[in-house]
Amino acid sequence: MPPIHSPQTQQPAVKLYDFHPPVEDFRSAVLRGLSLPQKSLSPQFLYDKRGSELFDAICQLPEYYLTRTEMSILRANAADIAAALGDRALVELGSGSSQKIRILLGAAPQAKTYVGVDISRQHLQEACAALMADFEGLDAIAVCADYTQPLPIAAIPELQNQPTIGFFPGSSIGNLEPAEVIAFLKTVAVLGDLIVGVDLKKPAAILEPAYDDAQGVSAAFALNVLERINRELGANFDLGQFEYQARYNDAAGRIEMAIASLSDQTVRLGEAEISFRQGETLRTEHSYKYTIDEFQLLAMEAGFKPVQVWTDADQLFSLHHLKQM
Ligand SMILES: C[S@@+](CC[C@H](N)C(=O)[O-])C[C@H]1O[C@@H](n2cnc3c(N)ncnc32)[C@H](O)[C@@H]1O
Repeated sequence: MPPIHSPQTQQPAVKLYDFHPPVEDFRSAVLRGLSLPQKSLSPQFLYDKRGSELFDAICQLPEYYLTRTEMSILRANAADIAAALGDRALVELGSGSSQKIRILLGAAPQAKTYVGVDISRQHLQEACAALMADFEGLDAIAVCADYTQPLPIAAIPELQNQPTIGFFPGSSIGNLEPAEVIAFLKTVAVLGDLIVGVDLKKPAAILEPAYDDAQGVSAAFALNVLERINRELGANFDLGQFEYQARYNDAAGRIEMAIASLSDQTVRLGEAEISFRQGETLRTEHSYKYTIDEFQLLAMEAGFKPVQVWTDADQLFSLHHLKQM
């Protein structure tokens, strides 16, 4: 658990509880990931300020059906979902630009407390400030933390003595391996009920362009992690010597995103030297796709009861209401 800092005020009234891991943790995670037989980085490192901006640009792409479909499901069922929220405090995990919660807040004027949890601190603060400006009477609290770690609920006074509900949209749950999903759901059970967005299985011809668009925004998003390592950790990745890949692995039911080395090369990171063979890949993300039944089974294994699922007419995306058993 990271140290607990006192809340700071970035703009009037937006409180930040900052549990962002220190840069040394980033360095050791990168060195560890780059020394694995399959080089690999946690997807959370994709999201610095620039990464969050690029992700927002991805959400606007014609190929990226996920955002507009999940938003259409939220709009079509806003009253139903708002009724499920009741007047509980809303805790959004991986809240990004907090766009989707706006649809629910519009339908749930009784909601007075919103907590956005995200690793991308500045983006998070700006998103919470914008919510406070647009929703009168709403207390929007920014919690910069890694949601794969136990949530520091006890350190957030605004969440004491009031029931909560967790909101986890964007199919971010697909970034976890299926076994990790169960452990994750058990950890976030501390929030009570959950509303979770899950991308559904579909042909590779739809999936692969969604993660590797014609304009190259997804590629820029992935390659930004190398720029971030250069900038924050003083490495010397030559971005021209790497290319982005996104392939659907049908057997595993996941999109595999990676950065491939275009040559045999050595990269320096401080004292360390990291060798890449031509064609060798650095894994940046997996994005698992589930059928409704597959996801509900995982949720049940984690101790949740699926009470409701909302989808779109084309069955592209699903939104699950899970209750504690
Ligand atoms: C795929 S985006 C989804 C954003 C938004 N919820 C949506 O649905 O459009 C993932 C978000 O989760 C954040 N994130 C990724 N990994 C995280 C982690 N381990 N802990 C906290 N936030 C994380 C990113 O900064 C980003 O804002």
